[in-house]
Amino acid sequence: MSDNSFKKARLDYNIGSIDFNNIIDPIKLFRRWFDEVYQIDKEEAVSMNLSTISSDNYPNSRIVLLRGLEDGFIFYSNYKSQKGREIEKNPKAHINFYWPSLERQVRIKGTINKTSAKVSDKYFLSRPLKSRIGAILSDQSTEIPLDKDLQKELLGEINKNHNKKIERPNHWGGYYLKPSEIEFWQGKDARLHDRLLYKRKNNEWIAKRLSP
Ligand SMILES: Cc1cc2nc3c(=O)[nH]c(=O)nc-3n(C[C@H](O)[C@H](O)[C@H](O)COP(=O)(O)O)c2cc1C
Repeated sequence: MSDNSFKKARLDYNIGSIDFNNIIDPIKLFRRWFDEVYQIDKEEAVSMNLSTISSDNYPNSRIVLLRGLEDGFIFYSNYKSQKGREIEKNPKAHINFYWPSLERQVRIKGTINKTSAKVSDKYFLSRPLKSRIGAILSDQSTEIPLDKDLQKELLGEINKNHNKKIERPNHWGGYYLKPSEIEFWQGKDARLHDRLLYKRKNNEWIAKRLSP
């Protein structure tokens, strides 16, 4: 890798635009953009960067997968993980989708809550056995010995449990981020990108165009 590698990665954006003459509900627009990228690449569509605030007031980001959109943007995790502990202390968070296939970004600000036990159970039971066991075996974000053989433990548990119903552990489940702001970004030529920011005010969405 040389300094040139960074310069050569300069991209031009020119495949789409935002229709500022036809402002629609942001959730509708999100669903439209999501469906468009989902047709091209499912993993790209559902991968999102989730930022929470750590106890020392630093933002903390990691990728999680979007698993639903109802009262908010739904994802699943370990409630005792670092993100779980951060959300417990401060539920304010940000989600960022980057969809390079369509030269789009969506930024979402909001507040996180846990999904109901019923929603979490339903999703947990829909997962393959190995993923259910994996969720139980992982004390996500805690330190473990360098030589711990997790795949071996997984195999052992699969052999022990293949006939049993594996229930969702209480410390694993869903979250949803209820949006208060959503910004849509469409890359355009000469870095003169289209940006449309929606803010929720008294249950109504107010839209503004932003300078690139
Ligand atoms: C493509 C991809 C998808 C991921 N999906 C999830 C997910 O849906 N839920 C989750 O808890 N972690 C997911 N992870 C792992 C997280 O990025 C992170 O490593 C983990 O949740 C621990 O984060 P924390 O220590 O901040 O709690 C994913 C990672 C990648 C790269």
